[in-house]
Formats: sequence, structure tokens, C-alpha cells
Amino acid sequence: MKEKLERLKKEVLEKLNAVKDIGILRDLEIKIMGRKGELTEILRQLNELSLEQKKSIGKFANDIKLELAERFKQAAEILEKEKKHAFVDLTLPGEGIRRGHLHPLTQVQNEFEDIFSSLGFMILDGPELESDYFNFEALNITKLHPARDMQDTFYVARTHADSTGTDADKTATDLVMRTHTSPVQIRAMKKYGAPLRCIVPGRCFRSEATDVRHEHTLNQIEGLMIDKDISWADMKGVLEAVVRRLYGSETKLRMRPKFYPFVEPGNNGEITCFLCKGVGCRLCKQSGWLEIVGSGMVHPKVLVAGGIDPKIYQGFAFGFGLDRLAMLKYNISDIRLLNGGDLRFLEQF
Ligand code: DAH
Repeated sequence: MKEKLERLKKEVLEKLNAVKDIGILRDLEIKIMGRKGELTEILRQLNELSLEQKKSIGKFANDIKLELAERFKQAAEILEKEKKHAFVDLTLPGEGIRRGHLHPLTQVQNEFEDIFSSLGFMILDGPELESDYFNFEALNITKLHPARDMQDTFYVARTHADSTGTDADKTATDLVMRTHTSPVQIRAMKKYGAPLRCIVPGRCFRSEATDVRHEHTLNQIEGLMIDKDISWADMKGVLEAVVRRLYGSETKLRMRPKFYPFVEPGNNGEITCFLCKGVGCRLCKQSGWLEIVGSGMVHPKVLVAGGIDPKIYQGFAFGFGLDRLAMLKYNISDIRLLNGGDLRFLEQF
């Protein structure tokens, strides 16, 4: 019986080496390994042997069966692969690589950066995890100031161990996820001094109960211009030039008083609604005006915190809400869509 098996194995391996067609291979497999196959028949004869013989030959027979099964599998894989290669049609056009595109927020941000670069403003960056000092204190928002309530944030505690490292020697410093891009005003003043012209696009974070107008992650563009003899008129002039480039030359800008601790006076900038041209529509809630920017003359305390002498220099600052601008421009009704990552939404821009 052993010789029979040996012979069969040798035969099969020779045939496997020669076979070039997957159909013929499958037929051979059935002829050998199938229910009525040659190997199966031989194995069936094992039943007729004595227990003694079964023991000596059983494992040998089974190993051959496993080995042949494996060889059939390998041969089939090789032929399948070759088949695939054989049928490459070089005249077919290649598969196109799907190209993405810029996020609507990035598109609006780029437009802004172009306009401000042409006006000589630097484009700066700042940390998203910010110290309580830069985010609030240096901007004239003291610890117990009610303005903190408008910008409730995510506080992150940091502990410093001194050289002895005992708990009693640790002092806590508050870190916050920045609630606005305004802290970069201070960083820019400290780094570059005066005169200074910069904008700062970036992500901000607030502990919000989210709805269609409020998100925990929002995007702003801060601006700061400092020089000798800078007046409120310069501020209005720059902002007007910018909104006209963005929304058309007939756009009007009106400034109304609004309190922000880091400017004096502070303003709310509104433009004539670009949809109804000031007549009144759904977008502007029938008022004809759209609120788009907070601004003001930099508070002397803020200049001092930035290391600049308020007796020599003045300046103005402003903050646009990038999400709001993108929502207005593309008629987006829910701010949460902007960070949602839903392709059905994003592919529309
Ligand atoms: N930081 C303000 C906010 O997040 C926006 C702002 C208002 C920025 C007035 C300014 C400014 O620079 O002058 O609501």
C-alpha cells in the first residue's frame, strides 16, 4: 500500500508541474482527491487492514493526502495569478485618482489671507492650548470679570514640580483651550514690537451647548495693526476695503458700539446684506445688515501687556468669525456641518 501511495504521489506531482490550465488542474484534482478519486479509493482500502497495519500506514497516508491538497492549492494560486497578468489590457484607460478639494472654511480663509497680504499684513499662528494669562488676563479680562462668562472654556490644569518634587511644592498654572485668536495679539506684540500689521487665522474652543449657531470648535481670524498716529478712521478704512473686496464694491460697513474688554472704544461691524442689498430678507432677518466683525482701538493696558508704550503707539484690532463668513457665503444653515466630516455635505463646495 505504501508503494501505491508513493507512486500516486510522484505521478500527481509530475502532472502538477506540467499543468498550464486551471480547468485541467481542477479536473485532475477531482480525479485524484474527489469522492471517487484515486487517492480517496486507496484511503478507503485502509479500512480493510488490521489494526496493526492501520497504525503503521494511517499517518503516512494522511500526510500524503495533506501534502497533495496543499500542492493543488498552490498550483491553482499560481495559475490564477498568471491568468490575471495574462489579461491585462494595456489599451484600457487607467483608473483616475479621485481628487479632493479645499474645505469651504479653507477657501474663505485663503481669500482673507490674499486680501490682507496685499495690504501688508503678516499671517501668524499661535498655540491652541494657551495660558489663562494670554487668553484672558493680558487682554484685560481679569479673573472675576463677567466677560469670562461669554467665553466659557475648557480648563486644563498643569502642575509644576520644583526640584524637591514634593506635593507641597507643586504650583498649579491654568491652561485653557483658547477661546479666541486674540491672545496672539499679545504674542505678536512681544515678538515683533511696533509697528505691526498681522492677521491670525485659527481654531478656537468654547464650552458651548451646541446648536445651529454654536460649536465647541470654531474658527476666527484676528487682526492687529499698530503704528504711530493710527486712528479709528484707519480701522474703518481697512475693514471697509476688506469687505468690499469680499462682497462687492457697493457693500457698506457700519460700526456700532459694543463692549470688548481689550479695546476702547469697541465696535460691532455690520455690512449691508449681500443677498438683498440692504432691502431686508431672510438672511439678514429683514434688517438689511449682517453682523460680521468685532473690532476696536487696542486698550492701553493690552499694549502695555505686549510691551508697547501706549503714549507712542496706538492701534486697532478686529476679529472675524470664519465659520459665520463661510455660512453666509455658501448659505449653510448649521455650523455643526463644518466639522462633521460628512462627505455628502463637503462634496457640495
Ligand atoms: N475676540 C472676540 C471674540 O471672540 C472678537 C474680537 C472683538 C476680536 C473685538 C478683536 C476685537 O480683536 O477688537 O468674540
